[in-house]
Amino acid sequence: MLKRVDILTLFPELIEPYLTSSILARAQQRQDLNLRAHNIRNFAHNKHHQVDDTPYGGKLGMVIQMEPIYQALATIKTKACQTILLTPAGEKLSMPLCHELVQHEHLVLLSGHYEGFDSRLLNYVDRCVSVGDYVLTGGELPALTLTDALIRLLPGVLGNDESAAMDSFYNGLLDWDVFTRPQKFDIFNVPDVLVSGHHQNIKRWKIKSSLGNTWRYRPDLLARHPFSEEERDLLQQFFVEEDKYEFNSR
Ligand code: ADE
Repeated sequence: MLKRVDILTLFPELIEPYLTSSILARAQQRQDLNLRAHNIRNFAHNKHHQVDDTPYGGKLGMVIQMEPIYQALATIKTKACQTILLTPAGEKLSMPLCHELVQHEHLVLLSGHYEGFDSRLLNYVDRCVSVGDYVLTGGELPALTLTDALIRLLPGVLGNDESAAMDSFYNGLLDWDVFTRPQKFDIFNVPDVLVSGHHQNIKRWKIKSSLGNTWRYRPDLLARHPFSEEERDLLQQFFVEEDKYEFNSR
C-alpha cells in the first residue's frame, strides 16, 4: 500500500499548498503517509542552478536537462519505488489504473512541461501517465490529480459517509442522485422512496439511479458493465419509468 509520494517539479510552490490542505493533510497526520514536492533546480549543481538548455536541431523553447533529474532520482528513488512521468502521451488515468498504482509503497512523480524533458528521460521511468486528451501547461496539476485519486483509496483516509467504495467509477458506474432538505424545492420533489424509510426499496432505488445516470451520461461504461440479474431488472424498470425503449443487452 502507498506510503510515500515524491513529486519532482520546477514549481513546488504550486504543489505544496494542496498537499498540506484538507484531506491530504489529514491523511498525512493520521496515516503512515508522506507526500512531498521537490524542486528539480536544487539538484542542478552549476553556478546558477540552471536546469534547461536549447534543443539540438533547433526548435522553440527550452528543454530540461538530464543531469538534474538524474541526480534528483538518484537521491529520492528507493528500491521499491515506481517512477511515473506525467505526460499527455501517457496511459490515460482511470480508476483501474489508480487501484493498481496505490498498491505500490513509493511513487516518484515527474512533472515537467510539455515537450520539456530531454527524451532520454523515458529510459529512466517505469511508466507514463496522462490525465486526459488535452494539454496543460505543466505536469503539476496531473501529479496532484493522480496523488489525490490514489490517497482517497487508502483505508481510513475517507470517513464512512464519504467512503471511496461509494464513489462514481469505483464499481464502474456513476453515482446515484442525492438530495437534501427541503423536500420540495420550486416544483421539484425529492423521490418519495427516499423519505419512505424502507431500506430495501431505498437500496434498489440507488442502484437504479446509478444505472440510469450511467446510461444517460456514460453509456460507454454501461456497455462494459457485468450486469447482475437485479441490475438488469432495475435498468429495465428505469427505462419503463422514463418511457424509454426496451433494454436488450446480453
Ligand atoms: N502535462 C501536460 N498535459 C498533461 C496531461 N494531459 N496529462 C499529463 N501530463 C500533462
